[in-house]
Amino acid sequence: MRSVVAASRVARAVGAAPIPQVAVISTAPTSEKVAAVNHVELHPYFQQPDVQSADAEHGILTQAWSPIGGITFYPGPWREDRKNVMQDPTIAAIAATHSKSPAQVMLRWGIQQGRSVIPKSTDPGRIAQNLDVFDFTLDDDEMTRIDALDTGKRTGIDPDEPRGDFYDRPIPEA
Ligand SMILES: NC(=O)c1ccc[n+]([C@@H]2O[C@H](COP(=O)([O-])OP(=O)(O)OC[C@H]3O[C@@H](n4cnc5c(N)ncnc54)[C@H](OP(=O)(O)O)[C@@H]3O)[C@@H](O)[C@H]2O)c1
Repeated sequence: MRSVVAASRVARAVGAAPIPQVAVISTAPTSEKVAAVNHVELHPYFQQPDVQSADAEHGILTQAWSPIGGITFYPGPWREDRKNVMQDPTIAAIAATHSKSPAQVMLRWGIQQGRSVIPKSTDPGRIAQNLDVFDFTLDDDEMTRIDALDTGKRTGIDPDEPRGDFYDRPIPEA
């Protein structure tokens, strides 16, 4: 990553999108040209506290993909036992308290913890809703209740698992 930035006339920072955590951190301690962002699966059911701590220690911004849990309800060949975080009763109760949606509560939780959150929507109303998260605050008890939902189980691909078949291919332009 450092060499990409050093060789580039335009890149000022590099992000990591999902690559092994050890590789992300290895860019950090010795250079100003560190990974600026680490893009990882992160929603209330999979919070990756160790990754978040390591990122914070090295000045890397943790960016949550599937921040409202899309990976927990998208169709696909995922874990049989997965649960849809959008239907979680604790999040629903907190959302009702604030007259907000579960998605807004999950986004607010991420923002209050200092993360970058990048929800995806194709619906103009939901895009607007996902931006409308700066007029309420979750209190400590609400934050703790959402933290307690972590299952420690990812749904998406584990970037620490070797996928030689997928990644080990030549890039002709490189
Ligand atoms: N690098 C990676 O490995 C990786 C993997 C997964 C995702 N990502 C990226 O992360 C971003 C978001 O992740 P994601 O798409 O997996 O999941 P997500 O943003 O957590 O969830 C998206 C799902 O939630 C729905 N939705 C959006 N806003 C909503 C709202 N306010 N209320 C109810 N439903 C709502 C969307 O449907 P509608 O569109 O119909 O609103 C869609 O089904 C995407 O840009 C994606 O490219 C990266």
